[in-house]
Amino acid sequence: MEKEPRKLVFRSTTVIFLLILSLIYFDLYWANVISFDQWKKYCSNSETIFNNRKIINETLEENQNSLDFLFSGLLAGEDQSKLKATGFACNTAVYSVHCVAKQPVRIDTRTMTVYVPADLPVQETVMKPYARQEDHNLLKIVTPVKILHGNTTPPVCQYNHEIPAVIFSSSGFVGNVFHEINEIIIPLYITTKNFQSRVLFILEDYKPSFLSKYSKVISRLSSYEVMNPAADQSVHCFPGTVIGLKFHGHLSLNSSDVPKGHKMHDLRLFLRQAYNLKFSHVSQIKRPTLMLLSRRTTRRFLNEDEMVALMEELGFRVIVVARAKAISNLNIFANMINSCNVFVAAHGAGLTNELFLPDGAVMVQVDLIGLEWAGATYYGNPARAMGVHYLRYQIEPEESSLLKIFGRNHTVITDPRSIHDPLGKEAYLNGQNVRINLARFRETLVEALSLVGDSTL
Ligand SMILES: *[C@@H]1O[C@H](CO)[C@@H](O)[C@H](O)[C@H]1NC(C)=O
Ligand SMILES: *[C@@H]1O[C@H](CO)[C@@H](O)[C@H](O)[C@H]1NC(C)=O
Ligand SMILES: *[C@@H]1O[C@H](CO)[C@@H](O)[C@H](O)[C@H]1NC(C)=O
Repeated sequence: MEKEPRKLVFRSTTVIFLLILSLIYFDLYWANVISFDQWKKYCSNSETIFNNRKIINETLEENQNSLDFLFSGLLAGEDQSKLKATGFACNTAVYSVHCVAKQPVRIDTRTMTVYVPADLPVQETVMKPYARQEDHNLLKIVTPVKILHGNTTPPVCQYNHEIPAVIFSSSGFVGNVFHEINEIIIPLYITTKNFQSRVLFILEDYKPSFLSKYSKVISRLSSYEVMNPAADQSVHCFPGTVIGLKFHGHLSLNSSDVPKGHKMHDLRLFLRQAYNLKFSHVSQIKRPTLMLLSRRTTRRFLNEDEMVALMEELGFRVIVVARAKAISNLNIFANMINSCNVFVAAHGAGLTNELFLPDGAVMVQVDLIGLEWAGATYYGNPARAMGVHYLRYQIEPEESSLLKIFGRNHTVITDPRSIHDPLGKEAYLNGQNVRINLARFRETLVEALSLVGDSTL
């Protein structure tokens, strides 16, 4: 796809200016289709200029028709009917809420108010555009968006755009790769992929570090510069807008949910292209290569050196990656993990990088006490959906550092399900390290080796 800075922003002034701009628009809109020579030919006599303008008119209509189609695909059932009837509707699910306006809107970035004019009494909707609606504490730090739908008197438009806007927030758990990808990157892909980069992102709670970390993904989903409303402070007109991102499940895509048809396989292909990853299938990696994620603060492997020795003894080339900095540079790290056929880690956000493994690779999650449910829900089940073999190594109490602290008969050890936060979080997530039973762990590694040895997935 061609990438030119198609900034279709202009101030509404004179008719002549509009005429010139419509020609520029024509040029830009068709840049992928019509060569400059053809364009010059179009402009060379008045008759073709007339045809030309006709084409512009049709183009604009087609543009609106295809936008209609894209907007309506973001909702289903009653929400979709409401959108059709009133031009505006929201979908509220357990985890996410997203609203769609399929008609011209004005967005005032000074107050983050979206004006959706309609011949109806004004209805006000306030929402937080972050895909973790069940987490009320977290939502407190997300800047709200106010939507006024009906007989409103919107402020005067300062900038016009030919493409729709999508509003979301980079507040929340930014800094944690699981949350970034789970709550922003995948929902952003789901919500905007079909717009084929012809969409402008308005990022509330704008975090430059987040944008630079995911620049390769974001620049593929939108050809336009991401807007920071706090710095922008003006009024923009758009042919429609989406507020909030659609969520399909933890590290998941559900092809029967709206917008229909998105599959995990497509997302992985998209990521492979974005990060220029070499391997799509594990069979392309000749030598058994294992990445061991080494955590430094909590959930540490206390006998890591012995684990590495065992892996090497079994024939693996072992790459040990300590958390933090190395992992946060996705441009490098995504390629590094893509070149491995086995990935081993204790439960934690780093497992999100399973997304970059080639098909048929093996992910081994060291399942700690009290974290079985989270391990399966956040990483295990998604791995399977990715075409990655998932092996869990469930530790025994003897391998957990919690045994010494609580004693064998304490409910923390005997009945983790009965332990609720904050004790559970403190003990299982933040207070637990593990000394791996090498004899048992060897069996898991041998299984992993046999899976990548005859990779027939
Ligand atoms: C565009 O076409 C419609 C009919 O399809 C017509 O009513 C309208 O006046 C045209 N607009 C321009 C600017 O030519
Ligand atoms: C996928 O989406 C459909 C439609 O919303 C829903 O009925 C189904 O339960 C979802 N499947 C999963 C696994 O979430
Ligand atoms: C745990 O309970 C069992 C039986 O209930 C008992 O025999 C054992 O001594 C207890 N162990 C400890 C360390 O308290």
